[in-house]
Amino acid sequence: MGSTLNRRRFLTELGRSGAFVAAGSWLSAIGYTQTTKAAARAVINRGRYRSELDRRVLGAFLEHLGRAIYTGVYEPDSSLADKNGFRTDVIGEIKGLGVPITRYPGGNFVSGYNWLDGVGPKDKRPTVLERAWNSIEPNQFGTNEFIDWCKLVGTEPLLGMNFGTGSAEMAMAYVEYCNVAKGTKWSDLRRSHGYEAPHNVRVWCLGNEMDGPWQIGHMSAREYGQKARDVGRQMRELDPGLKLIACGSSNRAMPTYLVWDREVLEECYDQVDAISLHCYYGNTPELTGNSSARFLAMNLDMELQIHEIAAVCDYVQGLRKSPKRLWLSFDEWNVWYRQRAGDATNGHGTFAPKLLEEVYNLEDALLVGGFVNSLLRQSDRVRLACLAQILNVIAPLVTNKTSVLRQSIYYPYAWALQYAKGRVLDLAVECDTYPITGAGLRPDMARDDKVPFVDVTATFDPQSGQTAVLMLNRDLDSERELILEWQDPIPKRVLACETLTGSDLKAFNTFEDPKRVIPKPLDPPAAGARMTFKLPPRSYTVAHIAS
Ligand code: AHR
Repeated sequence: MGSTLNRRRFLTELGRSGAFVAAGSWLSAIGYTQTTKAAARAVINRGRYRSELDRRVLGAFLEHLGRAIYTGVYEPDSSLADKNGFRTDVIGEIKGLGVPITRYPGGNFVSGYNWLDGVGPKDKRPTVLERAWNSIEPNQFGTNEFIDWCKLVGTEPLLGMNFGTGSAEMAMAYVEYCNVAKGTKWSDLRRSHGYEAPHNVRVWCLGNEMDGPWQIGHMSAREYGQKARDVGRQMRELDPGLKLIACGSSNRAMPTYLVWDREVLEECYDQVDAISLHCYYGNTPELTGNSSARFLAMNLDMELQIHEIAAVCDYVQGLRKSPKRLWLSFDEWNVWYRQRAGDATNGHGTFAPKLLEEVYNLEDALLVGGFVNSLLRQSDRVRLACLAQILNVIAPLVTNKTSVLRQSIYYPYAWALQYAKGRVLDLAVECDTYPITGAGLRPDMARDDKVPFVDVTATFDPQSGQTAVLMLNRDLDSERELILEWQDPIPKRVLACETLTGSDLKAFNTFEDPKRVIPKPLDPPAAGARMTFKLPPRSYTVAHIAS
């Protein structure tokens, strides 16, 4: 009896100190070992890497929703518009970011969208009542305008298909319209619209969130999987090189989570290349108990979802004895919890209503930094991902009549786009942890675990010899040291080092005060084989290092 009590006390103490891996923790899978030492330590060796980075993992999403297109991307009456009606200040911002791929036109919107309404002479295009967001859609911006805009901002188009009200026939007509050179009904229609050369869109989403009862045309996994197989097979006839993404579960809270993914893939595995994952996160009583410490751990929930969906893909691959390994497309992710209901999601039959206009604060930006780290860390499997969204609607960039505001979440995303290049390194990290508990939380977020105070990822570009290190300090009260131990290469110079931090986690930028949450320079350690970064409490930091 006595020894049991002692053992219990011993384990309790150990648990407090964070010295052992909590039962069920999967941190070792992402290269983390727990330690009680105050300083975290990461070993960097360019020979150990997780992936050749496909930069499309840093993509974005643009939907016909609220003010994203109309009065955002497209505002012909604005003095800031070019001859096509595109806002030049928006073009400048998005081009400056260097977004590698942009998903369009939805989202929920796509499931009721007739792409034919949005092509051809503008004065002949119908104005329709858009049903997903209950808004007026004048169709003045459509596929061809999107492709033109993509060229201007330097992004690759990723087109979504209507699997809700849309037939397989119209889906195929769309591919033919976009990708066939000439001599067929739909390709010649495109040419008659002034687009002689095909758009040659390489990546396609086969529908959107078809598992969701909110989705127009929602259907069962088997029905969806069969339709995806049919359209996928026809698309491959047309061009075997297209990359096709099947609709996966909308999030981990869905009652059909994983079963949907398995059943869909059992139907269409051979005809697709990837499956989609979506998730939005928030600091609410239900999801985090309003705990910022739990909130900042949510990028690890994203990684859990990645592991689970990858496991389903591998299971179906095994069942089918297929040589093909699917990759994952995390094509909607962000913080989104304030503007999620009522008037924020209902346009009440108006044009360009203010919908989903989430205002982002410092803690949201820190978590977005965490998501960037997670996506990079998982980029061996997640080859494509889209920050949802890019403009006005749950977005890093917001327009008013005269300018564009950078919200707090702009900065971590921009850093990854600017610096993360080459290979994602496989870091061995030792770090002190803090406990999180699942008591009282929604089941998909309810887990007892240990969370490393410091979250770090790094890329190495063999061409330039430069390394980018992205560091999240989740410690809300204290500075944390991170020792980078370089085995190879040995750094010669720190090219840049900046941090995003502040005393108020709830601070945000406005048009009147756009610089409340912006990066500031951080004193880096001297370049060398052992570099100790002093990460401010509540911070996300980038270091760009030459070797
Ligand atoms: O991005 C906003 C919406 O969130 C998308 O339209 C939908 O796919 C998701 O539910």
